Amino acid sequence: MGGGILVKKLFAVLGDPIGHSMSPVMHNDLFSFYNIDADYLPFHVREEDLHDAVKGLKAIGVGGFNVTVPHKSKIIPFLDGVDELAANIGAVNTVVNENGHLIGYNTDGPGFIKGLNGHLPKIAGQKVLIIGAGGAAKAIYLTLAKEEPLVVDIANRTVENAWGLIKDCPYSVSSNACSFEDASDSVGNYDLVIQTTLIGMSPKIDEQPIPLKNLRKQTVVCDIIYNPLETKFLKEAHQQGAVIQNGLDMFIYQGALAFEKWTGIFPDVQRMRDNVLKQLGGRTC
Ligand code: ATR
Repeated sequence: MGGGILVKKLFAVLGDPIGHSMSPVMHNDLFSFYNIDADYLPFHVREEDLHDAVKGLKAIGVGGFNVTVPHKSKIIPFLDGVDELAANIGAVNTVVNENGHLIGYNTDGPGFIKGLNGHLPKIAGQKVLIIGAGGAAKAIYLTLAKEEPLVVDIANRTVENAWGLIKDCPYSVSSNACSFEDASDSVGNYDLVIQTTLIGMSPKIDEQPIPLKNLRKQTVVCDIIYNPLETKFLKEAHQQGAVIQNGLDMFIYQGALAFEKWTGIFPDVQRMRDNVLKQLGGRTC
């Protein structure tokens, strides 16, 4: 390229649907706050167009992009490389253009753990219960497993799927699978309980996966849902004296870690939180 042409960097998020993504406003605000000449755009990409979309982004020299539902796993064969954690999870949510090579990462699990820091500074030695055994649970489970917890058990409607996650885990961790019924009996044994299913998400806000009457006070209870900000599950946990955390931090920190991978800057997460809350309708939490 000759002299003097300033090329604005492009960042993006690919998903189907993509209309409600809060990532563009969140990242565009950060680019302008840190004086980085870049735009972050949402692209509605159907599965059959995913390969072409990735080739197109690579051809135009995209700086990086996020990948959301339903493409997090399907994108992997179209990338030039995938880091170890993302490969083990089998899902990529962040892609970085590293000298012309598109490399996939997963910042969902690490984002969850980093967002938890205020409530639980270290995972090592903790007893953890994960509720659910889908994609989000897998990202959190494998990331936690690397941090030397004492135990990470998984409760799921289909117990077999929980065993599947445990059997496929490449990291050494002590784990058992159980039913929701067993989990509600034993929930008092854990230091950290993480709800990863969509049960309780708007509009079905009256549902919760397990009752929490056996919960111990001071247990840290997280729900990865942020709409509503306080699910029925978290409300009950709060009433039982637990320390609660909604899904906003996981969303914000996965974005913060992606932004750091693209720019080298770990951004102001309070600014991100205020911005996301504004998009959610001005609620506070
Ligand atoms: P995600 O990628 O968001 O984690 P997913 O991969 O579809 O979504 O996983 C959905 C999880 O929610 C699974 O643990 C699923 O349980 P099953 O393995 O038994 O299917 C759980 N789930 C979804 N709907 C549920 C419901 N109505 N009751 C109980 N569990 C439910």
